[in-house]
Amino acid sequence: MTRKDSLPVTDAHAVKVTGVSRIFSIKKKPPVTALESVDLTVAPGEFVSLIGPSGCGKSTLLRLIADLDQPTAGTIEVFGKTARKARIDQDYGIAFQQAGLLPWRTVRANIELPLELHKVGTAERRSRSTELLELVGLGDFGDSYPDQLSGGMQQRVAIARALAESPNLLLMDEPFGALDEMTRERMQNELIRICAETRAAVVFVTHSIPEAVFLSDRVVVMSPRPGRIRSVLPIRLGGPDDRSEHIREDAAFFDGVSAVRESLHGTPDTGNARGVDTR
Ligand SMILES: Nc1ncnc2c1ncn2[C@@H]1O[C@H](COP(=O)(O)OP(=O)(O)OP(=O)(O)O)[C@@H](O)[C@H]1O
Ligand SMILES: [Mg+2]
Repeated sequence: MTRKDSLPVTDAHAVKVTGVSRIFSIKKKPPVTALESVDLTVAPGEFVSLIGPSGCGKSTLLRLIADLDQPTAGTIEVFGKTARKARIDQDYGIAFQQAGLLPWRTVRANIELPLELHKVGTAERRSRSTELLELVGLGDFGDSYPDQLSGGMQQRVAIARALAESPNLLLMDEPFGALDEMTRERMQNELIRICAETRAAVVFVTHSIPEAVFLSDRVVVMSPRPGRIRSVLPIRLGGPDDRSEHIREDAAFFDGVSAVRESLHGTPDTGNARGVDTR
């Protein structure tokens, strides 16, 4: 039985952030308000991207949801639980910009690590990692070591590891940031396919407007100093089952890119959508 099967049926949000602020106090320096009065909900199975200029608090918000840091004010719930309880229960998988693989473990052993930590038996671990290797297109690479793989392949291993316990929520911080454009688009397609299969909710941080539009049900645009939500834009490209490569050429895709761009910069879109980046 997977974790997803074992979760009680509930109408709780996947994520509910209410009135959250995070002020960093550093000795002999004025405090930094990284986030101020942030409210955000993410529905089960929903894909939400966070976009905004460098330093606007995207990673801070993701780290708060993952309980890697605590808010100065406000509350965070994950599937109706405190962020802490959700972390202890391993209700989500995390994939950050660096793949963060253990170099001395094979690809398969890296993917199995969270299962091993939770004392899942050898046979079950093996069958789950085989399934995940196939899912991310690395069926022939289970016995390889991370340094024998390309950056894109390593990133796919990290995503497989994040999916190991069938989380109902994935927290991803620029997971494709270091990849070349073609690998990146392929990874985006794969992530859409994985979401369609697993029905996981995703909170996804990116600097790329086209990436946010292609992947998301909603794009959250943030403004800097102090980090606040400027707008939440619904993207109407259909569910994960309808979202295939051809959508990148659709008028609706370009409309979404323009809307996000205008919200970010307050200017009409004049450039080529593929090259737009918020940095
Ligand atoms: N541990 C910390 N101590 C002090 N200040 C911090 C800490 N973490 C983040 N900050 C500050 O909080 C603000 C938001 O940082 P954060 O990393 O969340 O930005 P970001 O939106 O993820 O930026 P980027 O797009 O560059 O990754 C920044 O001003 C940063 O300097
Ligand atoms: Mg960041």
